[in-house]
Amino acid sequence: MTFAINQAPAYVPAGSGGSAIRLKGKIAVITGAGRGIGRACATRFAQEGADVVLLDVAGDIPGIPYRMGTREQLARTAALCRQHGAAVLDMACDVRDRAAVDQAVERAVARFGRLDILVNNAGVCGPSGKVIDQVGDDEWTLMLDVNLNGPMRMIRATVPYMTQLGGGSVINIASTAGLVGYRRFSAYVTAKHGLLGLTRAAALDYAPVGIRVNAICPGSVRDDPELEASMLAEIVRSLGVPEGQGTEVFLYGQPTRQLVDAQQVAAAAVHLACDDSAGTTGATQVIDGGYTAI
Ligand SMILES: NC(=O)c1ccc[n+]([C@@H]2O[C@H](COP(=O)([O-])OP(=O)(O)OC[C@H]3O[C@@H](n4cnc5c(N)ncnc54)[C@H](O)[C@@H]3O)[C@@H](O)[C@H]2O)c1
Repeated sequence: MTFAINQAPAYVPAGSGGSAIRLKGKIAVITGAGRGIGRACATRFAQEGADVVLLDVAGDIPGIPYRMGTREQLARTAALCRQHGAAVLDMACDVRDRAAVDQAVERAVARFGRLDILVNNAGVCGPSGKVIDQVGDDEWTLMLDVNLNGPMRMIRATVPYMTQLGGGSVINIASTAGLVGYRRFSAYVTAKHGLLGLTRAAALDYAPVGIRVNAICPGSVRDDPELEASMLAEIVRSLGVPEGQGTEVFLYGQPTRQLVDAQQVAAAAVHLACDDSAGTTGATQVIDGGYTAI
């Protein structure tokens, strides 16, 4: 049997896995997209055919003791997504700011006409490194505002548009800190436990309108220079771990003896975003090299 050169390719049902493009025609909003896991998710979503709305605070936040993503890093993520053929809208947006969140979502809908997927990835691991009675109110409030209230604001702003479409997928990037405690990281641990609660509550609220809400709990993710990621280095700094011993601290108690790769998190996010996971909501995908299995 011969084929004409312009014959349409064989029909591939959405979400059939394998090498199919699984997010064609979908619009995905990703917060904290300037670098790290957010950049890995953005480029993977673009590879899978999605058009992307990339949000990042793109500037330092008073009270957070390390550099946030920059405008240049956000532009770099956008360029990588365009290389995969995605249409991109990138904007500075602080998830602590309700008006900015609402405006960013409105601009995204004005540009693309729809929203299908939200990846709540923006998060900060510090200020940390203190026992609870040493934590100031401002430090506590800041950590919860970014890591827990931010995702809630993003869900509140986006779900009305997903509801109009009759469905959608929200993916909250939590942490193993949402499942177990870590010493001297109380605000982070509390926020990430809260994010899993928000995931389950939102899954129940929105199941009737076809929106699925799931979480991913990465363990210690390798600081990949390609992604300009540095969260592990920041945790090492805040705990005062001696130079050169950081990796061993993170691998302690981890059966695979390998740090998690941001691409593994991005692959799980694609799975939760597409119809491959149509039966999954209110669930938590753990990617931690077995850390919480012990
Ligand atoms: N790296 C890890 O080992 C690890 C492990 C488990 C969970 N996580 C979670 O994964 C997510 C991403 O972490 P990462 O390692 O890529 O960190 P990262 O610091 O490299 O990137 C986070 C991005 O979020 C942005 N951001 C921070 N606050 C923001 C705000 N208020 N509004 C908008 N954007 C904001 C930053 O500018 C930055 O670009 C976080 O939620 C983090 O808690 C990371």
